[in-house]
Amino acid sequence: MTPQEVKKLYDDEYAQAYDATYRTHPLSIQTTANEAIILKTLLKEGGPWLDAGCGTGYFLARFPNIDRVGLDISPAMLALAREANPSAVLIEGNFLDDRQEWHNHFRVVSCMWYAYSLVESLRDVEKALNNFAAWTAPEGRLFIPVCDPRAFVGNFPARLPWWGTDEVRVTGVTWEYEQSNGKKHTNLISPTFEVLEKILHERFEEVRAVRYPEDALSILASKKK
Ligand SMILES: C[S@@+](CC[C@H](N)C(=O)[O-])C[C@H]1O[C@@H](n2cnc3c(N)ncnc32)[C@H](O)[C@@H]1O
Repeated sequence: MTPQEVKKLYDDEYAQAYDATYRTHPLSIQTTANEAIILKTLLKEGGPWLDAGCGTGYFLARFPNIDRVGLDISPAMLALAREANPSAVLIEGNFLDDRQEWHNHFRVVSCMWYAYSLVESLRDVEKALNNFAAWTAPEGRLFIPVCDPRAFVGNFPARLPWWGTDEVRVTGVTWEYEQSNGKKHTNLISPTFEVLEKILHERFEEVRAVRYPEDALSILASKKK
């Protein structure tokens, strides 16, 4: 999706319905609870914490005593985040744009519910992850719930043995999502876990999968290079 498409989709009406439709919906409430527990563990030593693509600030609001920053491109989502988080710093901006002043700054960086997929290309996902890595403090950790393409289409190999000794790699899927009210996420980019892992391994010594019930999969990176 382009930044303009994201802003248009995440308008006031969408923002007002967002938490009930997604974060606290019966189908996802358990995943939301599990992710809050993981964040709590990561935040044990305090902030600063950056939640990139923070949306309504749902997770930020669970930790009101932490020094925390929310970044989002949608003014409507941010308006709700501001209401729910009077003590947080909420910034309207694009996580594809680097911010020098954030380099090596945050003890925890998170990007929840697939916000990184709402971009235009795999290179953009790489750019977002590189920014998140740059913004993580040397002793900090980066936590990203993975939009796992295999959860949609079933298992598929990461490599295909075509063309003799050449190697073909399957790097992810693109997909779209249309709601009954006509609201549409288009051209979402979901790289495989292996691709995300490879990108993050350029920046971190340790990159591991975190699995929790409801088939959810996250990636946790630490020990910055
Ligand atoms: C699916 S929502 C997730 C919201 C929140 N992280 C959560 O867990 O509920 C995606 C959010 O990412 C934001 N977003 C999408 N692209 C962005 C970008 N390039 N920069 C900053 N925020 C972005 C959207 O505005 C939206 O609030």
